[in-house]
Amino acid sequence: MPPTRLRARACAKINLGLKIVSRRPDGFHELRTVFQTIALADDLVCELTRGQGVGLAASGLAVPQGRGNLAYRAAELVADQLKLRRRIDLRLHKRIPSGAGLGGGSSDAAAVIRMLARAAARPPSLATQLAWARELGSDVPNFLLGGTVLGLGRGDEVYALPDLGKWHCVLAMPRAQSHGGVSTPEAFARWDREAAGSGLTGGGDSDTLIEFCSLVDQVLPAFRPERNRGPRGPKVHAGIENDFLRGVLSLSTDFPRIHRQLRRTPAAWVGLTGSGAAQFGLFHQAGPAAEAAARLAVSHQSWLTRLVGRREYQGGLRAW
Ligand code: C5P
Repeated sequence: MPPTRLRARACAKINLGLKIVSRRPDGFHELRTVFQTIALADDLVCELTRGQGVGLAASGLAVPQGRGNLAYRAAELVADQLKLRRRIDLRLHKRIPSGAGLGGGSSDAAAVIRMLARAAARPPSLATQLAWARELGSDVPNFLLGGTVLGLGRGDEVYALPDLGKWHCVLAMPRAQSHGGVSTPEAFARWDREAAGSGLTGGGDSDTLIEFCSLVDQVLPAFRPERNRGPRGPKVHAGIENDFLRGVLSLSTDFPRIHRQLRRTPAAWVGLTGSGAAQFGLFHQAGPAAEAAARLAVSHQSWLTRLVGRREYQGGLRAW
């Protein structure tokens, strides 16, 4: 009998670099990015009972209700595709802030796909699940893999990369009352205006792909487990930095303040995730990471977390 009660840990992600290549004819932007799951996570429980329809009960940080919620839409989509004649009740405990570039809504939606796929009498293939994920949003497919993932196209063409080592991750963003997060469509529109002004529309697709992949190949090995020996990793990850960073730093004085504060720490890698608002630092050692998170928390919101590899990520889904 397939399980009828499932639980998933819906991890957030950071982008270890993000290049915007060009605006595509469909209005989306062609991207080159590396996603990385982290331990900051929402909890989702899914119960299947007799009946029909979808229910969503939420606790923790505020979330949109009904069809405004991507996890709810994922449940409707998968139920329809699988012709699932059951009632789906979702319980969501929200910890991942929205407007942060951490992919919280996308991760919840992917968790629903994964749970319902597990509960199906005839489980759908990964390719089918990826197609559903794409329909829900550009960042959703990445969360079907977890760990370190190369993202191409809209960010929805995903390829699993080898896991990085044990890195502590500090996240920081301005407090909600002074800045309510960054809107992704507005961030892309800002890039469009700047690109139009500078004639910057990116190179040919295959050129940018080869260039990005070879840079990723130079940067990531230094963060792999076998290289986690010294107190610091390399500071250099030139060429794959997040193209949204410049625009985000100009939004308010808080963003450059956080950036400078992170850069003054021993973090091996400082960057912006997605289109913001959160910036991150990766630390090899727990002490300096905890110290940086505590200092940032004096004036901003900050979280102390760590990277989550693919095996741990996939193990975060349970039936009971
Ligand atoms: O795919 P998703 O619904 O998450 O995208 C939200 C918005 O972000 C899109 O409507 C689009 O404006 C912008 N976007 C984009 N290029 C991408 C991803 C998102 O322009 N690769």
